[in-house]
Amino acid sequence: EKGGYEHFMLKEIFEQPKSIHDTMRGRLILNEGVIKMAGIWDHIEKFKNANRIIIIACGTSWHAGLIGEYLIEEYARVPVEVEYASEFRYRNPIITDKDVVIAISQSGETADTMAALKLAKEKGAFIYGICNVVDSSIARITDAGSYTHAGPEIGVASTKAFTAQLTILTLIAFKLGKHNGNLGNADFMSLIAELDAIPKKIEEVLSSTHELVQNIAKDFVGATNFLYLGRGYNYPAALEGALKLKEISYIHAEGYPAAEMKHGPIALIDENMPIVIIAPKKGHYDKIVSNVQEIKARKGKVIAVVNKGDTQVSAMADYVIEIPETSECFSPIVASVPLQLLAYYIAVYRGANVDQPRNLAKSVTVE
Ligand code: F6R
Repeated sequence: EKGGYEHFMLKEIFEQPKSIHDTMRGRLILNEGVIKMAGIWDHIEKFKNANRIIIIACGTSWHAGLIGEYLIEEYARVPVEVEYASEFRYRNPIITDKDVVIAISQSGETADTMAALKLAKEKGAFIYGICNVVDSSIARITDAGSYTHAGPEIGVASTKAFTAQLTILTLIAFKLGKHNGNLGNADFMSLIAELDAIPKKIEEVLSSTHELVQNIAKDFVGATNFLYLGRGYNYPAALEGALKLKEISYIHAEGYPAAEMKHGPIALIDENMPIVIIAPKKGHYDKIVSNVQEIKARKGKVIAVVNKGDTQVSAMADYVIEIPETSECFSPIVASVPLQLLAYYIAVYRGANVDQPRNLAKSVTVE
């Protein structure tokens, strides 16, 4: 059932071209130039009149939510707040019937997310679900939603569910933006064409980086700490890369917005500190170049995720992982793939049980 892979996690990483494709199937209709999402369309007035969108989630799904904030604010120009479900539910949040709440949950059973949604529902908010498990508890209490059609995710560390969540959030942002006029037709058409080609790019990344990342992982089996840095859309991707590493390899890792480094974490940097830096060409590249200079001046070990043909960051980095160039909004999907592989192989070489890491459960049904 692992389809020839050693672990479910590796199988699920490799399934991503298909799972992303499945999530778009029947929704992204490229030849008609439309995005069809009944859950959004049937309630379009709710979205149109919303004062703001509040995204509620935990863990990896919360990271997807942060990227959703960048997407929806950029393309639909609707204000978005992203909240940890556990914090939201206990802080007497301000919620009105003009709010749209989007819950993101792979399992659809996360206790804190469920409780936060009940609270928002009581206060009259419209509740939209992005779940992977069909007919799960969260899917059932929402007013509407879109399933991520990623297929069953068995590995405890979320991989294909995360990129499927990003796919849905991207579709929602483009659809709302097109509808409310913030995303012009020409830009809409070129963005959806690019989205349609993402599964192909993921396939390319899997084949071009798999062996390379395995070799890089060998050099970090003994690491005790990691920093992950990114800017813009790739700041949440850095958080997610760090979470993947810590949950399955038990190496302490932190994700940071690259510019925040100088406000504290830079004190940690010496020749023993590996730093994964996500540095695609589109998205504050020059700023990232300066961040890498600051790290190298302190002898940090840089593992850089860059676009093919990159020169500046690559010249300074100790390890270079190349990914194809995309518009900035798609880069977290593409960049996450080698980071999943990196976490996976470091954990495997450390002899960890990657599919069932200690102390973790696939669905967290207690608060
Ligand atoms: C990380 C991971 C967890 C979950 C979190 C939320 O790999 O799997 O952080 O993302 O427990 O779970 P769902 O999405 O099922 O609500």
